[in-house]
Amino acid sequence: MPETPAKKAILMDCDTGVDDAVALLYLLADPDVDLVAVTTVFGNVGAATAARNTLSVLDVAGRTGEVPVAKGSERTLIGIEPELATDVHGGNGLGGVDLGEPAGALSPKSAPELIVDTVRRRPGEVHLLATGPFTNLAVALRLEPELPALVSGVTLMGGAAMAPGNITPAAEANVWHDPEAAHAVLCAPWPLTLVALDATMGEVMSEAQRLEMAASASPVAQFAARVLDHYFEFYRSIYGEKSCACHDVLAAAIAVGDIVPKRSMTVTATVDTGFGPSRGATVCDLRGMYKGELSQAGANCTVVLETAGDFSATVVERLIHGKRSAG
Ligand code: BDR
Ligand code: CA
Repeated sequence: MPETPAKKAILMDCDTGVDDAVALLYLLADPDVDLVAVTTVFGNVGAATAARNTLSVLDVAGRTGEVPVAKGSERTLIGIEPELATDVHGGNGLGGVDLGEPAGALSPKSAPELIVDTVRRRPGEVHLLATGPFTNLAVALRLEPELPALVSGVTLMGGAAMAPGNITPAAEANVWHDPEAAHAVLCAPWPLTLVALDATMGEVMSEAQRLEMAASASPVAQFAARVLDHYFEFYRSIYGEKSCACHDVLAAAIAVGDIVPKRSMTVTATVDTGFGPSRGATVCDLRGMYKGELSQAGANCTVVLETAGDFSATVVERLIHGKRSAG
């Protein structure tokens, strides 16, 4: 009998948020993914609202009570009260779509505790996917300094290597929300993949695709279409038409190996933690590109610069039909 390949164990840390919700639904629709826990952080909304939204997403996916959810930081690593992104994601973070009280309950653990406990129980198996500010990961690193050796890898949605920022001219939102945390996470010795704006801004979902999900028979896709409506309006000011970038769901797809980047470089990456105009900028050492050197000696951060540009079709297909088996 051929051996059944093991499911990919993913722990997702997020600020659920419209596109975090879509990423969660994408992973939950994949029978080859074992979503071992979800931990939440401030960012798009507060960490408590993000946790509530995560429980609602689990309800929509028919997975109530199956995945532990823990609430994490409401403030940055250095204790700054955050500015939330409710203008982008709606007051409740789900584009104003209110499903009422979720059926599931939160874990009594804090997000960093749940990260550390989960990874310790399965050393070398769990991949961390972070799609919000990196505060919980930075706190988890303080709780368990051996964390980098205990995970199978880390994928982060964040940063802008050569592309402009989306919060300031220099900074991407997840990094800008907590630059000190992002710096600590980028400097830790774990195998990192940084899915930067350079790639995610090139993966655009159209209004026609959103309407296709709305008209489908899938409650999951219908929900995604509803929460995306407000988000799409926000992106009108960026792309000139109703649509959106696929940020967090692209990082999820890369984390589970659904997408192989078209262009990436493995380099050192740090964050500007100063308080000048480039606070929160990701400083990726891409100088090797001029001589075709895509990998810097000793570096552990693979920065994704470009993907094929047709990923939104996969997202729509996945949310409407689930994952089709290969062959
Ligand atoms: C990131 O910021 C948040 O608004 C999104 O959820 C995504 O994680 C994009 O910069
Ligand atoms: Ca996010």
